[in-house]
This record gives sequence, structure tokens and C-alpha cells, in this order.
Amino acid sequence: MIILGIETSCDETAAAVLAGGAKVLASVVASQDQIHAPYGGVVPELASRRHVEVILPVIQKALGDAGVSLPGLEGIAVTQGPGLVGSLLVGCSVAKSLAYVRRLPLVGVNHLEGHIYAAFLQEPTPSYPFLALVVSGGHTALYLARAPLRYELVGQTRDDAAGEAFDKVAKLLGLGYPGGPVIESTARSGDPNAIQLPVAQMTDGAPDFSFSGIKTAVSLHVKRGRPLSPGQVADIAASFQATAVKMLVRKTVRAALRLGVRRVVLTGGVAANKTLRGALQAEATERGWELFIPPPSLCTDNAAMIAAAGHARLEAGERASLTMNALPDMRLA
Ligand code: KG4
Ligand code: ZN
Repeated sequence: MIILGIETSCDETAAAVLAGGAKVLASVVASQDQIHAPYGGVVPELASRRHVEVILPVIQKALGDAGVSLPGLEGIAVTQGPGLVGSLLVGCSVAKSLAYVRRLPLVGVNHLEGHIYAAFLQEPTPSYPFLALVVSGGHTALYLARAPLRYELVGQTRDDAAGEAFDKVAKLLGLGYPGGPVIESTARSGDPNAIQLPVAQMTDGAPDFSFSGIKTAVSLHVKRGRPLSPGQVADIAASFQATAVKMLVRKTVRAALRLGVRRVVLTGGVAANKTLRGALQAEATERGWELFIPPPSLCTDNAAMIAAAGHARLEAGERASLTMNALPDMRLA
């Protein structure tokens, strides 16, 4: 089955063409980073307006790159939620129009399930059950996937998402937006042990995450140390990254041990981070676990992952009606 995937949940306009559920024939991502950079975060109104401007050229480019014409498509998958409502609506409207005109089966995909399905776009693919750590700009959660299309929420953030913390710390350090990649590059010349930052512990022992404390601690350091030298900025970036990675890895390892799962998927925008990839890989190797991490280009928002999840749902017989609509608070479990 040849599927067109459409993703517009946040600030990336993306379209992809996928064959057989795993072969990416084309994946086009139009980033809006430059538009939102001056504001240090995504401005919803600007995001939806930009989606409207570029969605059709992005789809056309994906079809062109794949060498597939509209009549060659056999299904359409679109991100239905969670995300910014104005952004989601653009993708959903275009997907419904195309499905109506071409009489194609349509399916709405949960963005977080899309992130998990990015792990199925490279060999070897994970078998079930597995634990998935989804770390992005909007979400930080652990899901247990017992069987295809079935998820249980194991733990989630009680305040900020991990990517949001990277973005906010980058802003505090005057490093620009988006924060993840620039923190990662700045941290390279810093000392990860330079400053002590709090590692959040849940007093109730829940496998949940919290990033607000570490963000506040960084903010205090920045205020006290002003003006910061480039060396100090690098030290803070490195210390923050090391602490955030430690928290993510620790909770994931504990949850996997408790659940008795020996397969882990790491995905979402923050999974592009080399320190995080390396730290979880080291744990997995030591414990003899299988770890699946998509390549960085498939960790950050893209439409190939949406097409992959959509393929699985279409194969399972799921169909969305033309009255389907954006669900900004859509839950995976
Ligand atoms: O999955 P994604 O592209 O969009 C959402 O669904 O939110 O994730 C974007 C987030 C941003 O917060 C960005 O700063 C973070 O992922 N990110 C990174 C890296 N690349 C992107 N965080 C840490 N290290 C990176 N290399
Ligand atoms: Zn995402």
C-alpha cells in the first residue's frame, strides 16, 4: 500500500510517501524555525498561517520526490492530535479534501504513536512488548506497547516536557531557538560536572518526570553569574544536558526493570540528542536489552512516521470519516 502522510501538529509542515509500511519513498519537512526564532518559541497563529502557505507545495514535492502521482496513492494518514488546534486543522482539512476527491481511505494518527512508529522505519524493527520513551517539545512520556496499536501509559512529565526544558534553558543562556540542537553543540566545550543541578525524585515513587526544578536551578545560576563568559555558558549547557539525560535514562531503566521488559524504543525530537542516545545505549548494552532509536531525522517531527502508523491502522481496517477533525488533546493511552 502506498500512503501519503501529512503532519502539521506544531511548527513543522511535513509530507511523506511510504510504501509497504516501511519504505520511505519521500519525506519532506518544511521547518518554521526561522519564523518562531525571534519569539524564542512557537507562536500558534504564525504556525497555522505558514502551514496554509506551504502545505500544498510540500505535498507536491513529496509526491514528486517519490515519483508517485495522486492516482498512485492508496491511502492517506494525517496527524489528528495532540498539537496546536490551528496547525492540526490545516493538515486535517487537506487530508480530508484529498481523500474525498481521490476516494481514498483516510486515517487519523496520534502524533505520539507516529513518533513510536519511526522505530519501524529501519531494520531491525522492535517486536512486542516494548517500552517507549517519547521525548519531544510537547511531551515526555513512557508507554508500554504490549501489542500492535495497544499502549499503556507508564509515566509522564508532571510539568515541562524535556524538549521544552532544553528550549527554555537555551533561552535563559541567550542561545536561541530551537534549544535542543544549540544546547547540544554548546555543551560540547563545557564540563558536565561543573554545576550541581537537582535530579527530580517523585516522593510517591511514580515513574513520572519533572523538569521545572532543573530549569529554575539553571535560571538562578544564570542570574547569579551574570554576565556569563562563553566558558560558563558551555558549562551550564553541559551540566543541564547531563542532568536531563540522567533523569530520562534513570526513569526509563527503572520502569523497564519493574515491567520486566527488555526492549526499549527511544524517540521524539530530544532523541536526536547524542548524549541521550549514548547514555541509554550504554545501559541497554550492559543489561543485554534491545534498544531501537530512529535516525535523528526521523526522531524530530516528520510525516514518514505518521504514514507508518497510519499504514498499520489502515491495515487493521481502521477508517476515518470525512467528518473527522483535529483533537488537540488526543491521548494515546
Ligand atoms: O518531536 P519534535 O520535533 O516536536 C514535538 O513533537 O514537540 O521535538 C522538538 C523538540 C524541541 O524542544 C527541540 O529543542 C528538541 O526536540 N530537540 C532536541 C534536539 N533536537 C531537537 N533536544 C535535545 N537535543 C537535540 N539534539
Ligand atoms: Zn513530535
